[in-house]
Amino acid sequence: MTDTTTTTTTTKVREHYSATGLTDRIKAALAAITPEDQPLTVAQLAPLDQFHTRGILATTELAGAAGLQPSTRVLDLGCGIGGPARYLATTFGCKVTGVDLSPAFIDAATYLTARCGLSDRVTFQVGDALHLPFEDGTFDTVFLQHVAMNIEDRAALYAEVRRTLAAGGRFSGATTPRLRSTGSRPP
Ligand SMILES: C[S@@+](CC[C@H](N)C(=O)[O-])C[C@H]1O[C@@H](n2cnc3c(N)ncnc32)[C@H](O)[C@@H]1O
Repeated sequence: MTDTTTTTTTTKVREHYSATGLTDRIKAALAAITPEDQPLTVAQLAPLDQFHTRGILATTELAGAAGLQPSTRVLDLGCGIGGPARYLATTFGCKVTGVDLSPAFIDAATYLTARCGLSDRVTFQVGDALHLPFEDGTFDTVFLQHVAMNIEDRAALYAEVRRTLAAGGRFSGATTPRLRSTGSRPP
């Protein structure tokens, strides 16, 4: 796969997930549930912050198989607005770093995490899964939920996963087949 192909795909994915004013829209929606100065729980957010098929149930199943401990350093790759990362930190007591291509998602993830009082254990940064800004062997577990279908260069993706995992580290992933347009309409 050429660098040009990878760059084009990354640009398309970034455009697909662009979300102008996302944090403000989330704040407005949450105001109907609880005042801005009140904390939120992971359970309260679950209907809106799990950005994948089967929502929190899928996260629960994937996380349950990952063998997480309080000492596990987790990378949540393609973290979206941080729902799975907050669930992992709350349920297993581990520290989680979330990375996503979308600055709007990272902004929303950071805001929601502060509202849940989890900013000491869950942090986020903008980044590309194909060029991760971490040293070799930084994490014990890489969590990749519903992201790989967006990434054409799977070899480069899994090379970065492998590079950033410590010796004996674990990969925990789930995805859907990549959707391709056939140009036809459903009946
Ligand atoms: C369907 S969402 C899943 C988000 C989150 N994992 C969840 O389950 O709630 C896919 C996410 O992958 C991110 N993504 C896609 N390609 C990426 C890449 N190359 N590097 C980092 N994030 C990427 C998108 O920006 C989007 O937030």
